[in-house]
Amino acid sequence: MTTEKYGPQADRWTEEAYADPARYLARRADLVVGLGPRLEAGESVLDLACGDAGLAEPLLARGLRYQGVDLSPEMVAAGRHRLGARARVTLGDLNTYAPAGPVAAATCFRAIYYAWDRVAFFRHVASFTERKLVFDLNPRQYRVEDVQRDLAQVGFRRLELRPFFAPQTRALPGPLAAALELAERSGPLARALLRLRFTYVCAASRG
Ligand SMILES: C[S@@+](CC[C@H](N)C(=O)[O-])C[C@H]1O[C@@H](n2cnc3c(N)ncnc32)[C@H](O)[C@@H]1O
Repeated sequence: MTTEKYGPQADRWTEEAYADPARYLARRADLVVGLGPRLEAGESVLDLACGDAGLAEPLLARGLRYQGVDLSPEMVAAGRHRLGARARVTLGDLNTYAPAGPVAAATCFRAIYYAWDRVAFFRHVASFTERKLVFDLNPRQYRVEDVQRDLAQVGFRRLELRPFFAPQTRALPGPLAAALELAERSGPLARALLRLRFTYVCAASRG
């Protein structure tokens, strides 16, 4: 099973996968809220392949409601332990899981490659997502045009892309981290950096 390798890492996933988890996940949460149609307090986010639900805390802190889904039982247990009664974490497959009711936004971080069929996955998410799908995309692995075409096929005709230059495995001194963040909006420099590393955060909506 694809998730077996995550079992042993589940207990300390967020703390060990991210050198500076608070900063990294706060920046990610800001984009979940603000990239594409803006989410308002009280709206709901379904986090697909949520891992140990580390993203829940900054989203809850921004007034959103959160539910997570992951296919690794150990990750689900770690997420439940992290969140207690503050949010629900469910065992499920991102290809087939559907929430009980519609959500304002769905997110999928570092897991889009677990979709069996990208168009089918986008169509499934579109069936229960009212506002937007937010996910990260490595442009060295996938062509942005191909992903944009697949999104358009299911009605997500508007795609906003933001270079995301928060280092995952290195904690940078504040000024350097701030300079990298500024570079996200630099156009050609940002595109040049993306040819070497980092990802886009993408917000797909109906426009
Ligand atoms: C690289 S981790 C990312 C976790 C979290 N989204 C993050 O950004 O830290 C990938 C996650 O995807 C989960 N996963 C893998 N295949 C899945 C599937 N088909 N459905 C749901 N979750 C899946 C794994 O169990 C793991 O928690």
